[in-house]
Amino acid sequence: MLQLHSVTKRYGPLTALDGVSLEIARGEFFGLLGPNGAGKSTTMSLIAGLRTPDSGTLTLDGEPLTPANVSARAALGLVPQNIALYDDLSADQNLRIFGQLYGLRGAELRARIDEALEAVQLADRRRDPVKTYSGGMQRRLNLVAALLHRPKLLLCDEPTVGVDPQSRNAIFDFLEARNRAGLTIIYSTHYMEEATRLCSRIGIVDHGKLHALGTLDELLARLPFEDEIHFAATPATAAFATALAEQGPVARENDTLRFRFPNGAKLSSFYALAEHHGVPARAFTHERPTLEGLFLHLTGRTLRE
Ligand SMILES: Nc1ncnc2c1ncn2[C@@H]1O[C@H](COP(=O)(O)OP(=O)(O)OP(=O)(O)O)[C@@H](O)[C@H]1O
Ligand SMILES: [Mg+2]
Repeated sequence: MLQLHSVTKRYGPLTALDGVSLEIARGEFFGLLGPNGAGKSTTMSLIAGLRTPDSGTLTLDGEPLTPANVSARAALGLVPQNIALYDDLSADQNLRIFGQLYGLRGAELRARIDEALEAVQLADRRRDPVKTYSGGMQRRLNLVAALLHRPKLLLCDEPTVGVDPQSRNAIFDFLEARNRAGLTIIYSTHYMEEATRLCSRIGIVDHGKLHALGTLDELLARLPFEDEIHFAATPATAAFATALAEQGPVARENDTLRFRFPNGAKLSSFYALAEHHGVPARAFTHERPTLEGLFLHLTGRTLRE
């Protein structure tokens, strides 16, 4: 559906996107995961045709995505990172403006506005000025405003920043339902939990480069270790820890020891060794590998730096 080929975008001396190539198929829920300044919003604005790349091409169903190509842009909806609503106006009035921009009128527009407000539980506040809404309510309205014209591809740029947990869940449920109904979604976030929960495929970006691309399982399989096992450093575990260190590195952080299971290593030999040294199973906690761990492995940084 969407193709980015070697896309580069510079702002003066800064290269915000550096040769990014990416293909997104119809029906995907694609996640763009990266920290502040990674290039997520730049990617979104290029796809939305708000900016032109310095080099490379973007196409939607074979049609070039450029600021001039209005027909391709009408197939897209953008939920910008910063809320873009008229805050003196009501939800109703805002949606009417958005709908009219896309040529919707009369009964059809009214029906779509009703449906949109119901979908994000704002029907009872529809006549109140947007400035009286909570951050989460504004986010929900911003989201449906981008969908009024029924685009086939929705771009969501960090739509849950500054949102209370209840609104966040409402946004997730809403997007998941729309995706099941056929909407293709590109979702940017710096929360690995969101990418993990929502996205069928994830691209990891940092400093304008796409560092990895795949399903969650494919991405985690790139780590050279599987589970991590943590246990307390105590006199009771000391002999075990020494023996374990012969099988692989045991790292120490304060009073916790961490052992990373090499790919393919046998859990049974780990527990046999523990049993031999009299360390019970309850001494251990397992941690599954995460996208945070992968990001650290790929870039040497954490997502929240
Ligand atoms: N209009 C602009 N002029 C100059 N530099 C810009 C402009 N927009 C973005 N940048 C720079 O380009 C880089 C990528 O920015 P971008 O906004 O795409 O990142 P992001 O991943 O969306 O970050 P965030 O999570 O903070 O929203 C950053 O270094 C940013 O400072
Ligand atoms: Mg951004």
